[in-house]
Amino acid sequence: MPKTKIWSLSVGLSLLTVSACATQPQAPPPIVIAHRGASGMLPEHTLAAYELAIEQGADFIEPDLVMTKDGVLVARHDPWLSDSTDIADHPEFADRKTTVTDPSGREVSDWFAWDFTFEELRTLRARQTRKGRDTWYDNKFEIPTFGEIYDLVEAGYIVSVPMPGFDGGVSTYTQQKACLYIETKWPAAHKARGLDLAQALIAEFDRRKLLNEHLENGGACDPLFYIQSFEADILKELNEKTDLKLVQLVSPIDAIGTPSYELEDIATYADGVGPFKSLVMDLETGEPTGYAEQARALGLEVHPWTFRNDDLAPGFKTPEAEINAILDAGATGFFTDFPATGLAVVEARKP
Ligand code: G3P
Ligand code: CA
Repeated sequence: MPKTKIWSLSVGLSLLTVSACATQPQAPPPIVIAHRGASGMLPEHTLAAYELAIEQGADFIEPDLVMTKDGVLVARHDPWLSDSTDIADHPEFADRKTTVTDPSGREVSDWFAWDFTFEELRTLRARQTRKGRDTWYDNKFEIPTFGEIYDLVEAGYIVSVPMPGFDGGVSTYTQQKACLYIETKWPAAHKARGLDLAQALIAEFDRRKLLNEHLENGGACDPLFYIQSFEADILKELNEKTDLKLVQLVSPIDAIGTPSYELEDIATYADGVGPFKSLVMDLETGEPTGYAEQARALGLEVHPWTFRNDDLAPGFKTPEAEINAILDAGATGFFTDFPATGLAVVEARKP
């Protein structure tokens, strides 16, 4: 169902003026998006990493989705597999290594998910991708399907909560929920190989009908899904065909930080923007650039990436300081590999 997402600046500003005269509504707290799961602690895009993020209380878990040769949606950060799996240790797949041109024109020699059936991919095991992180969990977890991740989010994750006032270890249980913040990876390259990420997502949503039920029930979180991409075409298609919340990912494309897409254009088909953090604040000083303010005036949410306790922007000494700076600069949420840290910052900022 087509949506009109064009917010003229004047309409936006006049609405802001009217609302300023009425009782000021409380802004919702920023959302914490567990980037590739709790990927700072466990191998990214595994059910274990997503479960840990949900247990920690993340608002969203973030699967990056690619497709297998036989059309199964699976979670990997990239269509290529050597960084995040043990595929190089599988001699039976040695002859599948190939060279592909990525969306930016760079040649990548690797093994690609779309050249494998799901059954074949399932024989691989996941690995930590970033140096310096705990590798004890390497080669233990399978590549999850989107369906399995969906199951996890539907079920919630049961966590034990100590009961206040009891010292005898008495516990009660609560169902911790998170929502899904899905990235479609290289949709045009998939399409060129006869694999349609948009249709596969829509089919999964239709099959489950979870979204409708969720909305009818008032929803445990709002929205239940965001769909993000670096490629605009798939977002425009989903904007025409669905009511899903859409986020355009944006990178700086040159030394002066020109963004890969203009905010005014993004506002015509998406609900939010996911900028690299340098677009939102100076990474040395933390000074806001004005980008978030401009995006929000256009009615867009602003979810910068990526905040890592073990890889801070150059001007910061602690992850908390870096996250506080991006929130002060106007971000309405953020991606982090360490959701527990992000949640602690958001909690500490509450009045
Ligand atoms: O999706 C937000 C952020 O994750 C974009 O970067 O490369 O980690 O998917 P990437
Ligand atoms: Ca991502």
